[in-house]
Amino acid sequence: MIRTELAKLFSLEGKIVLITGGAGLLGHQHAAAVLSCGGTPILLDIDPTGLNRTLQMLQEEFSQKAISIVCNVTSLSSITSVRDQVLNRFGCIDVLINNAARNPKFETTNDISFSRLENFNPEQWDLDLSVGLGGAFHCSRVFGSYMAQSGLGGVIVNIASDLGLIAPDQRLYRQDHLKPHMQPVKPVTYSVVKHGLIGLTKYLATYWCEQGVRCNSLSPGGVYTNQDEVFVGKLAQLIPLGRMAKVDEYRGAIAFLCSNASSYMNGANLVVDGGRSVW
Ligand SMILES: NC(=O)c1ccc[n+]([C@@H]2O[C@H](COP(=O)([O-])OP(=O)(O)OC[C@H]3O[C@@H](n4cnc5c(N)ncnc54)[C@H](O)[C@@H]3O)[C@@H](O)[C@H]2O)c1
Repeated sequence: MIRTELAKLFSLEGKIVLITGGAGLLGHQHAAAVLSCGGTPILLDIDPTGLNRTLQMLQEEFSQKAISIVCNVTSLSSITSVRDQVLNRFGCIDVLINNAARNPKFETTNDISFSRLENFNPEQWDLDLSVGLGGAFHCSRVFGSYMAQSGLGGVIVNIASDLGLIAPDQRLYRQDHLKPHMQPVKPVTYSVVKHGLIGLTKYLATYWCEQGVRCNSLSPGGVYTNQDEVFVGKLAQLIPLGRMAKVDEYRGAIAFLCSNASSYMNGANLVVDGGRSVW
């Protein structure tokens, strides 16, 4: 009996859940969480190949279907087109997970010092903010307005980071053979976007509260994806649990935040980082 009542709280049966950046590492996991709770995830991403690959992986794990739509979260017309397509087909939008982000990798550039504040390209600043922060704003504006006007309310979840609470420890990225001015760092935009998302969360939590739209953020810690051994060792020392996250360790938090299990939570930031930000 208790188990049934609890399962009901976490149920997303009949719910339409939009996930931006749905073709990425965690987008796949968020979709898996939604499917596990009986909901329908709609993956939105700029990368059609990645979307197909993610749908295929989800099909191997779940019998229910996920949907994908190519969408650029920096484009208002792309987002409104998604809204119209989803409403035509499903008639509602219940949850939005703002998860898309740019993730420029040191490995893809010859100049690994590009991320240093002194060298940081203004175009890169604009791009990072337009996806991570602008995308969350545009999507919240379009899909949140619908939720507020529909009379049904809804849920917005912003994916922030432990680095939305603490500064990056740049010693993690240090490479002994490089001179100080060449050392790679975590880009400034990452901190700005993630802190900004927590601010956006509080703003949205109070903006449409009378229309039944609540908003929270999730601050995950770093996921282990076979990163360099030295980096992983240094990072593990900064985390009370002594390790990075496994890729599926945020599924529970997403199920909680998207469902009625968190019905009285609004404007909060759920930190799931192995304790890194409390040290
Ligand atoms: N992976 C981690 O360790 C970690 C830790 C903390 C927080 N996060 C956050 O979780 C979220 C997901 O991270 P991830 O590791 O899955 O990243 P990822 O790079 O694997 O996925 C991001 C996705 O966003 C998409 N995207 C980029 N620009 C877009 C645009 N204009 N429109 C639509 N989609 C666009 C990319 O194509 C990609 O599929 C990010 O917000 C990230 O900052 C990740």
